This record gives sequence, C-alpha cells and structure tokens, in this order.
Amino acid sequence: MAPQTKRVTINDVKEMKSRGEKITMITAYDYATAKMVDKAGIPLILVGDSLGMAVLGYENTLPVTMDVMIHHCKAVVRGSEHALIVGDMPFMSYHVSTEDALRNAGRFIQEAGTQAVKLEGGVTVADKVKRIVECGIPVMGHIGLTPQSVNQLGGHLVQGKKLDVAEKLLDDAKALEQAGAFAVVLEAVPARLAALVTQQVGIPTIGIGAGATCDGQVQVIYDTLGLSDFLPKHAKQYAKLAEIMEQALKTYLDEVKAGTFPTKDNSYIIDNSVLDAVKANLK
Ligand code: KIV
Repeated sequence: MAPQTKRVTINDVKEMKSRGEKITMITAYDYATAKMVDKAGIPLILVGDSLGMAVLGYENTLPVTMDVMIHHCKAVVRGSEHALIVGDMPFMSYHVSTEDALRNAGRFIQEAGTQAVKLEGGVTVADKVKRIVECGIPVMGHIGLTPQSVNQLGGHLVQGKKLDVAEKLLDDAKALEQAGAFAVVLEAVPARLAALVTQQVGIPTIGIGAGATCDGQVQVIYDTLGLSDFLPKHAKQYAKLAEIMEQALKTYLDEVKAGTFPTKDNSYIIDNSVLDAVKANLK
C-alpha cells in the first residue's frame, strides 16, 4: 500500500487554483512558529531567506547561506505536520551552475525534508528550474521584486510600472510555467499587472504586494504578527506581539526584582529528612 502523506501536496495547490480557492502561504523560520501556522490551518509555509532580516538582523537577504537555510528548514519541518514546506534557495546557491542549483535543491529535500524549493528569477533561471523539476523536486518561482537582486534593482522597489519591465514580468512568468514551476510568487507588482499575469499563466500566482487578484497571498510572519521593526505597505499587522512580549518581559523583570517570582508553585520540594541530613553533614 502506498504511504499516506498528511501534508498538502503541489497537486492540492493546483486544485485550489482550479476551484478558485485562495491559496494562503506565510513564512516560518522555527519549530514553535511552524507549529502555530500548522495549527491555524495555513496550507503552505515558506522558510524564506527573509529570515536573514527577520531573525538574524541582517540588512538584506544576501548574507544567508545554504547551511543557515537547511538549519531553519529542519526546525520548520519538525514543527509542522500538514503544511507543504517550501525552502527558499539563498543567494548564490543556484546562480553559478545548473549542477550547483540541483545539488542545493536536493539538500533542501534530502537533508531538511522540505517538499519544494523556491528560487528567484524568470527567463534567466528557467533552464535550472527545468532540470530541478526533472529531478522530481517541485519548484516555486519568484519574480517582480526579487530581493536577492536588491543591488541590481537599486533598492526594494515596485517592479513593472514601466512597459519594458511589465513585459519582462509576463515573459518571466510564462518561462517559469514552461519550465515546470508549480506556482510563482509575484512580489511588489502593480495589482492590475499581477491580475494580467494571473490570467495569462496556468500555474497559481502567489502575491506579496501584488493585489487581491492573485491566486494566493504570502506574507512575512513577523510583519503579520507585529514583530518587525518596519511594516511594508503591502503588509497588515493582525496582532501586536512585540508590545505583548515586551510587556510580559517587563512584568517578569519587576517580579524577579520584587521577589514575587518564583512562588511555591514554581519551586521543587525536598523531604525535611534529606535537607536535615545535608545540613548535619555541612563541614
Ligand atoms: O524570503 C521571503 O520571505 C520571501 C517572500 C517575501 C516571498 O521570499
């Protein structure tokens, strides 16, 4: 009998698009958060290289390495049971050669246990996407604002307002579909252009700052939960966890200082006889 997978599969994602059911994806970077995302019933988790900023405090995603990504992906896989986990291929892990791209995509599946990988770029990476898919590894594309090219783009800027870039976006989406990608992230793209791309390709489009017409949405969890220093225009805070956490930590500090924590309830007991014996043996 074939083993049953409890996880969402790329076929489920494709079916969601056919049914017109919106696809929700969010980032997670660790075991505890992955558990919460899974419990909330969100079907796709992206272990994004945005962890470079969100978790590690870098200025951008460029310093993130394969080993760091594998480390975090493993934790997310351990924390989740149902979501399809997409591992984000970091800067320079698929740029040098197709061999490199394949080897590193394979590490996400074999070492970390993710079910898919994501990489940035369209026409220029299509050959690599094709080879990775041919090896049985599902690939999610990522076009529009591609943060690994921040220096080339001149900043984290909206992409596709001008004719040449808008047309390139369409070409990139089509190239990814042809190469076998199962979905494509559209980041920071004008909403009506994203709607056109969504209409022009058969694979699901997952937007972040790309309007409501995309087949799905992805968000960075630190933005969504109110844990980031800066909230981008495309994000919405569904909670203010930083405030709640800071308040809790101040209360902890106050209670330790005041001696009201720990109480008896937080302490362990020892038999009088044992303690008396220890005291009697004091030198
Ligand atoms: O790294 C990430 O979190 C991403 C999303 C912004 C799509 O690539």
